[in-house]
Amino acid sequence: HTARFTLDPAFKIGHVNPRVFGSFVEHLGRCVYTGIFEPDHPTADEDGIRQDVLALVRELGVTAIRYPGGNFVSGYKWEDSVGPVEDRPRRLDLAWRSTETNRFGLSEYIGFLRKVGPQAEPMMALNLGTRGVAEALELQEYANHPSGTALADLRAAHGDKDPFGIGLWCLGNEMDGPWQTGHKTATEYGRLAAETARAMRQIDPNVELVACGSSSQSMPTFAEWEATVLAETYELVDYISLHAYYQPENGDIDSFLASAVDMESFIENVVATADHIGAKLKSKKKINLSFDEWNVWYVSDWHEIENSDARDWAEAPRLLEDNYSVTDAVVFGSLLIALLRHADRVTVACLAQLVNVIAPIMTEPGGPAWRQTTFFPFAQASRYGRGEVLDVRVDSPTYTTEKYGETDLLHATAVRAEDGSVTVFAVNRSRTEALPLEVALGALNLTSVVEHSALADADPDARNTLAEPERVAPHAVEGTVLTDGTLTAVLEPLSWNVIRLA
Ligand code: AHR
Repeated sequence: HTARFTLDPAFKIGHVNPRVFGSFVEHLGRCVYTGIFEPDHPTADEDGIRQDVLALVRELGVTAIRYPGGNFVSGYKWEDSVGPVEDRPRRLDLAWRSTETNRFGLSEYIGFLRKVGPQAEPMMALNLGTRGVAEALELQEYANHPSGTALADLRAAHGDKDPFGIGLWCLGNEMDGPWQTGHKTATEYGRLAAETARAMRQIDPNVELVACGSSSQSMPTFAEWEATVLAETYELVDYISLHAYYQPENGDIDSFLASAVDMESFIENVVATADHIGAKLKSKKKINLSFDEWNVWYVSDWHEIENSDARDWAEAPRLLEDNYSVTDAVVFGSLLIALLRHADRVTVACLAQLVNVIAPIMTEPGGPAWRQTTFFPFAQASRYGRGEVLDVRVDSPTYTTEKYGETDLLHATAVRAEDGSVTVFAVNRSRTEALPLEVALGALNLTSVVEHSALADADPDARNTLAEPERVAPHAVEGTVLTDGTLTAVLEPLSWNVIRLA
């Protein structure tokens, strides 16, 4: 019952675009307020940014940070979020039934990114729900035009002389979802996205634009939506988006552990759909994929609130504060593997979200910040998953899941860095059995195991909490060896593994 695969430097999938390690900050719950921004917090700097959170964001290794939503963006008026703080209006946020104070806005977001460091890149979403072409152009001019126009000079008057240099824009959010404020049909949205893109390129032909794809593969309009939207926008946009969240259904953990099967088929189906439209249009261009929302999310908890009459319009309420277990982190790691396995076409991806809201980093107002279980796979993948993804075709023992049928117990990928070192990322989906692994390394010229780290626990439900913030962390695995070009390891039951070879 050994799982096996062969790695060869000649068989490459593609280069990992650093943007695959993106994340997402939405004005939702406590992601912004008491998450990254809490002026009264003991660690806050002069701009109200929590330094304890900032340190964790850097350690996590995030790159592109999508903002300001999410569903929030479909009611967003960017003008509310700039200028003197005392003049900014309080607004109803229909998406999350909250009150938005606009205390933190566009300038603060760019300031936060600059503090995170040079690897952090803005990814700005536009409101194509309640707004349209004119407001998108105004925001683009305010953010990016150097000077000498009303909006560029207004930015300077607001204290931001230097343009924000936002190069990556989302043309709306989840416009296929009936829950979206200003929801549209594929044709309505495709036309609006095309005209917004065309106009934005009149300001700057080099902007990179993401058209909205489906909110999940299970949407009734899936694939037809992408085909219609891309038929309108193909030559005007660079990316089509994908969103996916996973949770166990009816207590079926075995299917939950195989969630990446859905994620990989979603990616492959979107690639096929985009390429079909490209072929019909006789285009030389390829549309890449922006998987700009992905995670484990116990979304049914939110649906209960959504389906109720509750509307108390609170400021920064506790919403979507999922606390992740070891099992969740293993599924999460497998979702990362799925993204890397498609590095040739998935060139942007955003973990939704960054702090407090379905997040790897949690905080307590006035109190500490800590790492959830999902923090570790992301930080390790971002750190060691840079380079060329090698083609991994596993020969693995299988198990049977209700949702996906016969499924490999091993899910894996491998990334070769510029210096020739290789990192294998692997998940054992078995809840009960350790999985022996053999990897033939042939022409790779590797001689040693630098590290085998695993996230696994005798209690698969173990979590990090405010009371016990360091209950779960990866541990070193002994006994992993590389002899005569063959790597031999044992993957613990229900585990996420990082094996570094040099
Ligand atoms: O990330 C939480 C929400 O999930 C986002 O606001 C929305 O785009 C998606 O439905």
